[in-house]
Amino acid sequence: MENIKILITEDEIQKRIKELVAAMNEYYGNEEVHVICALKGAVIFAADLVRSLKMPVKMEFIRLSSYGGSKTSSGKVNAVDIALPDLNNKNVLIVEDIVDTGLTAKFLLDFMALNFKTKSTKFCALLDKKIFRKTDIEPDYYGFEIDDKFVIGYGLDYEGYYRNLRYIGYI
Ligand code: IMP
Ligand code: MG
Repeated sequence: MENIKILITEDEIQKRIKELVAAMNEYYGNEEVHVICALKGAVIFAADLVRSLKMPVKMEFIRLSSYGGSKTSSGKVNAVDIALPDLNNKNVLIVEDIVDTGLTAKFLLDFMALNFKTKSTKFCALLDKKIFRKTDIEPDYYGFEIDDKFVIGYGLDYEGYYRNLRYIGYI
């Protein structure tokens, strides 16, 4: 693969996930959590995360799109597939790959608030790219803050490729 520079190593990612999981295990205790994985980007992160959670967990998947293959957000979030069970009175933990403009996160949080009266709704993103934020969204949990690089790997793609890398890199 051409000239990928490593930004966050596999070890750093796994170490940080352990810290996030510890905080979640502490916060939720033995309460059931519904983890909502935002496809496709969060699939690898969510898979690693849930496997260390100690409470009863159910996984759901939703698919949104805002990028359409380029390196910049279209600024418009499209719901491609949202099929969720009844989440009233449940602890909901939304898992995303990255918060960039925050429009996707806002869409998800608004959608939850509109449709369910959850017991709790938390938002976890592996990466937080704060400089392009167009909303007042702050993730409850995040792995790493990054600057304005377009990153790939560990679920994140460029034109569909590189999701399978074990690390986060940039081209
Ligand atoms: P937002 O709606 O602008 O916050 O963008 C969120 C979505 O854009 C994420 O779920 C990613 O799919 C995608 N995205 C944002 N930045 C990057 C990046 O650096 N690499 C790959 N995808 C990204
Ligand atoms: Mg995404």
